[in-house]
This record gives sequence, C-alpha cells and structure tokens, in this order.
Amino acid sequence: MRYPSEAEALYLLRKYRLFKEIVEHSKNVAEIAMKIAEDIRANGHEVDLKLLKSAALLHDIGKWKYNRQRGGTEIHEYESGRLLRELGWPEFADICESHVGVNKAEAEKLGFPEPHDTMPKSLEAKIIYIADKIRPGSESLQEIIETFKRSKKLKERYWSRCPGFMESSIRSVTKIWHELEKMGMRI
Ligand SMILES: [Fe+2]
Ligand SMILES: [Fe+2]
Repeated sequence: MRYPSEAEALYLLRKYRLFKEIVEHSKNVAEIAMKIAEDIRANGHEVDLKLLKSAALLHDIGKWKYNRQRGGTEIHEYESGRLLRELGWPEFADICESHVGVNKAEAEKLGFPEPHDTMPKSLEAKIIYIADKIRPGSESLQEIIETFKRSKKLKERYWSRCPGFMESSIRSVTKIWHELEKMGMRI
C-alpha cells in the first residue's frame, strides 16, 4: 500500500491550512493510536506503525474544506477520503475516512456524496476509529457512549439526520473497543 510519510503528512496539514486545534487533535489521535498499537504489538499482533501514524495525522484533513464554514454541516470524513484518493493513496484514503463508521444506507440518509460503506476494516483503521473518540473527559468506553448520547454537535451533525445511527455507532464503538481490548489494548 502506498501512503505518505509522517513528514509528508505534517506538510499536508500545513499546506491545507488546517486550524491549529485540528492539528493538535490529529497529533493527539496519533499519540493515542501509537499507545494502543504498542499494547497490541506487545501481545504479539502486527501493526504497521508508520501507516498508523500517517493515517492518524491525516484522518481529519478533509476539514480543510470547512475551515471557513465552522458550525456548518460537515462531511469531512468523506472529504479526507476524496482528497487522499486524488493524491494517489486509495487504500490509505479508506483507512482515514473510516473514522466515521457508516454503512451505505446510513451514508445515504446522512446525505454523504457518493454514499458508500466506511466501516473500519483493517486493524489500523480500527485503532484510529477508537483513538479519535478518546478525548479528555471521554476516556473509557462508557464515557464515549455517554458523549455520543449527550453531544449537541453529534446530534446536529449525525443523529438527527439519520434515525438509528446513534444506536449503530454505539454498537460499532463497543464491538471495536472489545476487539482491541482482546488484542491487548489497555486504556
Ligand atoms: Fe473527524
Ligand atoms: Fe478526529
């Protein structure tokens, strides 16, 4: 699989003028993802660390398009995928966009362009999916689920536009969390 190096990923974050807080968030996701990967590797599983680092850094690159539309409807996950495909990294793009785990029907209801399945499939994609949801005050599976239920932003952006999506996201995060835990994740 072809994918950008860490230096290229950092260059792209600058080139597309991502807001400072998004760059900070992306670096945090990379740090948490590497920690999860270490646990999993210590348990004898293979994780591609370079791929993981670059994908974590670029998972939100699609937010470049919404820099001037804060508070608006965002489909940044798909935009991350579109842009990274255009740059010539199709499989890498799949990993980055799958931090929103939707099936095709959900993508249609959410009004995503060219709706398609973005459920995280590779181990690296699953690690990024979970690492992206771990934030201050939302550090355990239970807290992540509570955030899903309480967040106004998530309600506006996703839940209110696609009935049943909150429940299916809770099922996905629970399933993937337990899968990673079984592989050695210790959060
Ligand atoms: Fe995102
Ligand atoms: Fe993110």
